[in-house]
Amino acid sequence: MKKIIFLLVLIITLISCKENKTSFVKDATHEVKIEALLSKMTLEEKIGQTNLRGVSSRAKSLPSNIKESVRKGNVGAFLNIMNLEYVDELQRIAVEESPNGIPLIFGRDVIHGFKTMFPIPLGLAATWDAQIVEKSSEIAAFEASAYGIRWTFAPMLDIARDSRWGRIAESPGEDPYLATILGAAYVKGFQGDDLSNPYRIAASAKHYIAYGAAIGGRDYNTVNMSEPLLRNVYLPPFKSAIDAGSATVMSSFNEINGIPATGNQFLLKDVLRGELKFDGFVVSDWDSVIEMVAHGYASDEKHAGELAAKAGLDMEMTSTAYEDHLKKLIEEKKVTIEELNDFVRNILRVKFRLGLFENPYRNKEHTGKFYSKNHLKEAKKAAIESTVLLKNKNSILPLSEKTKVAIIGPLANAPHEQLGTWAFDGEKEHTNTPLHAYKKANTNFTFAKGLDYSRDKSKKGFKEAIEVAKKSDVILFFGGEEAILSGEAHSRANIDLPGAQEELIKVLAKTGKPIVLVIMAGRPITITNIIDKIDVVLMGWHPGTMGGEALYEIINGISSPEGRLPVSWPKTAGQLPYFYNHKNTGRPADSSNFVHIDKIPIAAWQSSLGNDSHYLDAGFTPHFPFGYGLTYTTFSYSNISISKESIKFNEDLNVKVNVTNTGKKAGKETVQLYIQDVVGSITRPVKELKRFQHVFLKSGESKEITFKISSKDLEFVNHKLIKTAEAGKFNLWVGPNSVEGLKETFFIKN
Ligand code: GLC
Repeated sequence: MKKIIFLLVLIITLISCKENKTSFVKDATHEVKIEALLSKMTLEEKIGQTNLRGVSSRAKSLPSNIKESVRKGNVGAFLNIMNLEYVDELQRIAVEESPNGIPLIFGRDVIHGFKTMFPIPLGLAATWDAQIVEKSSEIAAFEASAYGIRWTFAPMLDIARDSRWGRIAESPGEDPYLATILGAAYVKGFQGDDLSNPYRIAASAKHYIAYGAAIGGRDYNTVNMSEPLLRNVYLPPFKSAIDAGSATVMSSFNEINGIPATGNQFLLKDVLRGELKFDGFVVSDWDSVIEMVAHGYASDEKHAGELAAKAGLDMEMTSTAYEDHLKKLIEEKKVTIEELNDFVRNILRVKFRLGLFENPYRNKEHTGKFYSKNHLKEAKKAAIESTVLLKNKNSILPLSEKTKVAIIGPLANAPHEQLGTWAFDGEKEHTNTPLHAYKKANTNFTFAKGLDYSRDKSKKGFKEAIEVAKKSDVILFFGGEEAILSGEAHSRANIDLPGAQEELIKVLAKTGKPIVLVIMAGRPITITNIIDKIDVVLMGWHPGTMGGEALYEIINGISSPEGRLPVSWPKTAGQLPYFYNHKNTGRPADSSNFVHIDKIPIAAWQSSLGNDSHYLDAGFTPHFPFGYGLTYTTFSYSNISISKESIKFNEDLNVKVNVTNTGKKAGKETVQLYIQDVVGSITRPVKELKRFQHVFLKSGESKEITFKISSKDLEFVNHKLIKTAEAGKFNLWVGPNSVEGLKETFFIKN
């Protein structure tokens, strides 16, 4: 019998292997082993593999029933087991005492670092740098694997177009192209080239799918979406992560057009398996299986289990619909044993790829070398490159280190807050804050918090802050949000600076001293009310462990700000959702006939204000556009040229442009190429990012930058759900952000 299984699987695998023979031959061995195991497993054990169990990371002891469940083979994986003895004991029981010795996977949210914390993912996205993202994930994996963690619930790849959404902090921003590049980089960083390397961890592309499109930016809210929009904007980052080999995918909490993702057969089977050829396993997000009852999609937990199983969900996180009801569902023939076998195959495949059968135990010699010099150096580099300079009136920055500065604000010395959301394992004792950096540099500064925390409404600290400000040359105001104000379930309807920060800034402005506002937050913060009171705006996001020194170096010109906005920065929450790659509408806004609400004549004639798509009070532009970021020098663009006026399908178009550093300092420019498909069989965005590259130029230096595009880059899914590029007119821009640049026009002709 076993010989037949071996031969059959080998034949099937080799026949199905259309691409790289080497990888499939390796997997063929796994497939043989999987079938051999499957043939020995009882129904209970198979169901056991689909169970992901959690124990509070604060548990003081390991519940005996948990150990017994593992001994019986009723658990496939754990999350949040942070006690090393528990990790070792549970794995020992699984390997040595369970019926087939199938090892456990230990998972954790290792989102932007483990102990050494990197900037939050929205900050990492602001680097526009795949190498930085890959390095941050590699270091996170190295540190996390010391705890026996071999699976992270990352990267989060939800396109986010609404800064009210708390989880924008974890997102790659609003653009699909940037997100596809960063998604692949995260997977490569976490997984490396060989997932069985004990210092690498399995990735989980999440939250599949369109979680970021929740109505109103309110977490967990309803998502309605056309299939072309899903495929053109929200799916590409997941395809990229899966093409990069993401071992797992996590289904999201939200419904899409009435069907929750966790019970969505079209998404989990037709698209994920059928189209993207995903061969890892799908895990539900926390309790999202049984939440289908609350959604009104399942009548009870057993029905929820049935819907998830029929949809192709392999592993259930924390809830127990599979554990409690799958056996009965199979007996009632509502779920087939073959469906369960496939769940188990997918889970075992990842366990084999992780090398857990050969090497199930954590490497006790792997001290993790947390916070090693190199890790901290990389974290500082990432924090520097994620920082975005949004305003620099009269080039106040960079300061001389001799400048007498007043350090004020609730985020100037907030070690916990600076780490941002999803920093469970980051230790605030290691956080280097701006105040620490100034003390270490021993430069000319005074300090007064002014406010104890970001939401503080008390003015008791104002007097001291004003005194300190009066004795200084420049005020460095470190404001923003506590970590808890972004992340899961933490959406805000008003995204101004919380507490009395604006009031404090206004009174400080009365001292006449220039104000440098350094924002640490999990989202763009609307600063329209105070922008005229501040001379400089630096966005540091939540910059992680080394944020203090990174910001010190930028403020004092030791390093330059290099970040570019991965998300549009709104003037007011009322504009949201806002995104640069929007449609033109039939009445596009036009500055020539826009009348601001404050300028409307009394009793104005009803149609005298220009019937275009704008807000009377907020207009129609963001405060700062996608792709925007200043540096300490200036760049000019000239001599744009394209290789041809028109190209055929699949023919390359070469684009050239000259970029010159016209300032006095060296600097890095992020040259961006945007395309507009002017007429389509469905309306197309006014602009879409299609290429970018970093160029470092010395003062006065010029360089010719070249890009190559083809019709492949211009494909989109139309209303017939056909992915295609279409002949016609295209505009292209090359420039420093999504609103500036040199323009060319070309055609695609049949
Ligand atoms: C949470 C989050 C998800 C996370 C999971 C495990 O609810 O939605 O992103 O990975 O549960 O902590």
